[in-house]
Amino acid sequence: PYTDHTLVDQAVECVRQRQPGSAGFINAVLRRFLRERHLLVAQLQAEDPVARYQHPRWWIDKVRRDWPTHATALLEAANVQPPMTLRVNARHGDATSYAEQLAHIGITAKIAGSHALVLDQAVPVHRLPGFDQGHVSVQDLSAQLAAPLLLGEGADALPAGARVLDACAAPGGKTAHLLELQTLDLLALDVDRERLVKVAQTLARQNLHATLQAGDAAEPTPWWDGRLFDAILLDAPCSASGIVRRHPDIRWLRRPADITTLVRTQARLLDTLWSLLAPGGRLVYATCSLFKAEGADQIDAFLQRTPHAIRRPAPGHRLPLGENVSGSVKNCSEAGDGFYYARLDKPGAAGPSI
Ligand SMILES: C[S@@+](CC[C@H](N)C(=O)[O-])C[C@H]1O[C@@H](n2cnc3c(N)ncnc32)[C@H](O)[C@@H]1O
Repeated sequence: PYTDHTLVDQAVECVRQRQPGSAGFINAVLRRFLRERHLLVAQLQAEDPVARYQHPRWWIDKVRRDWPTHATALLEAANVQPPMTLRVNARHGDATSYAEQLAHIGITAKIAGSHALVLDQAVPVHRLPGFDQGHVSVQDLSAQLAAPLLLGEGADALPAGARVLDACAAPGGKTAHLLELQTLDLLALDVDRERLVKVAQTLARQNLHATLQAGDAAEPTPWWDGRLFDAILLDAPCSASGIVRRHPDIRWLRRPADITTLVRTQARLLDTLWSLLAPGGRLVYATCSLFKAEGADQIDAFLQRTPHAIRRPAPGHRLPLGENVSGSVKNCSEAGDGFYYARLDKPGAAGPSI
């Protein structure tokens, strides 16, 4: 809210009090920066991708390697504020009916799916009609793809009562979505006991029911009762490189070695959970990552070592860009987060063990 000159004056005053000998020098540097700002910033941005895109160098290189055509758009999109997206509880209405309720109280939104709405402007959740009763939840568009992908449709639909494992459940957004769409015998597991409290809160708000369990999905002995699952959602721990626009600090906190560790953990989770899946069952693997190592490459490697697994149609990598991804970031503020989805079916007697 202050003018540049006020800021410089205050900064120099501050230096005068603490380091009087440096005040003249600081004053000269800051005033010269104000005079030459456009040139200096332009030069820096042209020469230094770290300054231009506000990402660490290794991350920029990785995005360029994985997405040579879309790298610039992806890096720029990570600095654009994301939209607030809602999921209307299918047990209470749909996007059209909820958009009308919102319009009545002056909140405008675009319909983005049968039960999805993107708000023109973010609002506090207490302003959303029926939020406390679970009629609506805040969930990104790409995250909303998980539950329908696991549940299937038509002849492929998972029947009521199917035994489902949500292996990395907290804070429970996808758990709740699954239960909104189908009545399931659902075990919501998470290694982090404190985060599991959030799953309980999410389900309580919506009056939905699941069995909650703290445990490591890669070490089932302590928590598994020996009954195979008809369907497993593995929303795996990942770099979160697909949601950096929501958590800008992630890119600075991660280290390149973290990706290697995460890829190894994801592979271990995949292998272990595959063994808990009933013949004829399905597993959905998801990460909120842009990196192919945590998406397409991870699943290719799994299929190499698990040749009997059947890869079914799934969205694959979803980039957080608008429809026009030819280098332009237009519309990206309304696009879903970066995600990867694969669905893997286990051959065998079809039909859930309900
Ligand atoms: C991407 S978040 C899941 C988001 C959640 N599915 C949702 O939609 O709200 C990943 C979760 O995996 C959990 N996690 C990490 N390693 C795990 C493990 N070995 N076993 C079970 N949960 C794990 C983390 O505690 C974290 O809550």
